[in-house]
Amino acid sequence: MTERNRSVSPAEMEKHRNCIREVYARNQMSGSHPRAYMLTLGCQQNEADSEKLCGMAEAMGYEITDKPELASLIMVNTCAIREHAEKRALSLVGQYKHLKAKNPDLIIVVCGCMVVQEHRIEEIKHRYPYVDILFGTSSLHRFPELLLEKMSRGKRILRSDETVYEVAEGIPIRRENEIRAWVSVMYGCNNFCSYCIVPYVRGRERSRKKEAVIEEVRELVGKGYKDITLLGQNVNSYGKDSDFSYDFADLLEELDTIEGDYWIHFMTSHPKDASRKLIDVMARSRHVARHFHLPMQSGSDRILKAMNRRYDFEKYIGILDYIREKMPDAVITSDIIVGFPGETDEDFEGTVSALKRARFDMIYSFIYSPRKGTPAAEMEEQVPADVQKVRFERLLAVQNEISLSANRPMEGKTLRVLCDGVSKNNEALFSGRTEGGKIVFFEAEPVDTGKFLNIEIERGEAFALYGKVKR
Ligand code: 5AD
Ligand code: SF4
Repeated sequence: MTERNRSVSPAEMEKHRNCIREVYARNQMSGSHPRAYMLTLGCQQNEADSEKLCGMAEAMGYEITDKPELASLIMVNTCAIREHAEKRALSLVGQYKHLKAKNPDLIIVVCGCMVVQEHRIEEIKHRYPYVDILFGTSSLHRFPELLLEKMSRGKRILRSDETVYEVAEGIPIRRENEIRAWVSVMYGCNNFCSYCIVPYVRGRERSRKKEAVIEEVRELVGKGYKDITLLGQNVNSYGKDSDFSYDFADLLEELDTIEGDYWIHFMTSHPKDASRKLIDVMARSRHVARHFHLPMQSGSDRILKAMNRRYDFEKYIGILDYIREKMPDAVITSDIIVGFPGETDEDFEGTVSALKRARFDMIYSFIYSPRKGTPAAEMEEQVPADVQKVRFERLLAVQNEISLSANRPMEGKTLRVLCDGVSKNNEALFSGRTEGGKIVFFEAEPVDTGKFLNIEIERGEAFALYGKVKR
């Protein structure tokens, strides 16, 4: 269905830039002070997309505000990964109804993964008449064109998504953070895990050109960014849609030659194609953080098969063993789904013993949520909610103990920590993250923000480390 590595043509990007200029001119002429508010739900890829939406809004003359009541443009970037995320998006959109009543010129945009699905488009169309513009993930770069169309014709624009998936370069980006940055290396997913909506809402895999990625990382390092996370639904597939034999490990190796003091993180990797070559490159690199996020999803081979994951536990643990052989201090994290259709007590116990064997530093665990249109949603034997909940809590308890036993031995060690500034939860302390992404709390000075500090760890808990700066 897709062409290989198709890029949006320079002529089309120029058309979008013209739309940006035209909206800018209209905003200038209006004599008002236009402000835009952005609300982002979901994963890092969505955060990266929102930085582009804000970049375009800023280029169109909007000041970005954190107060929706001051905005003349409200953008909601939605997520579809679980039911809860969709419910939240809809209830938040519902809250903007009264703002529209107060200010009929307010433009409300709903975009992202949720509104690629036909049933959600219909729902917004009929039940949220005050939403002005709706578009899906593959139309992101068309935002200025759609906004201009809305401004000039006044009609609602409810656009279903493109079926050809493209890569658009040169969209302005307004980065949220001055220390950490996202860089997408590829978009979409071809894996069709049976529970997952992503391949339906983000389309087929397409990689950015390596030159574009390298240039972006080089520029960020030059600007002083200290932690750059390469994003893709499955970064291990990077380059597979191009005609060149250049893979993700090659990309990491090339990025590693950029001079500077910074870390490179990446997410997410699919175990079915996490190669030894990639692990070898990480182990000998200077900048690639020794952190592997490798979603296992389940420890039962039967369930992994039903999930269409294309690996078994033996293969999975083999990768972990190899990572630890090459990088004994690597931090390994994972995603686990509890209560997938057909999961028996025995399958669940398989996951519990897999956790004990894998000894992850941390996991993100989720209760299975049926997604309309995915094969798993049609499977018989959906696990009752109360059983899911009991299993979920047991899983958390098991993992807490493992995380604690991974963090306790950090006590007395000195770790390099990138300082993020005053902690949001406890204003008396600063917070930062280790190379492996562990959160650390400590006392520091405002000037330490954005710097690498050596922190002597005094206390290791399940979810965080506490320590003091070694000057
Ligand atoms: N239900 C619960 N969790 C899910 N994930 C993906 N789809 C679902 C679903 N339908 C989880 C997976 C994935 C993470 C990003 O979200 O664990 O790795
Ligand atoms: Fe979803 Fe599987 Fe693709 Fe990850 S690899 S985005 S879980 S389909």
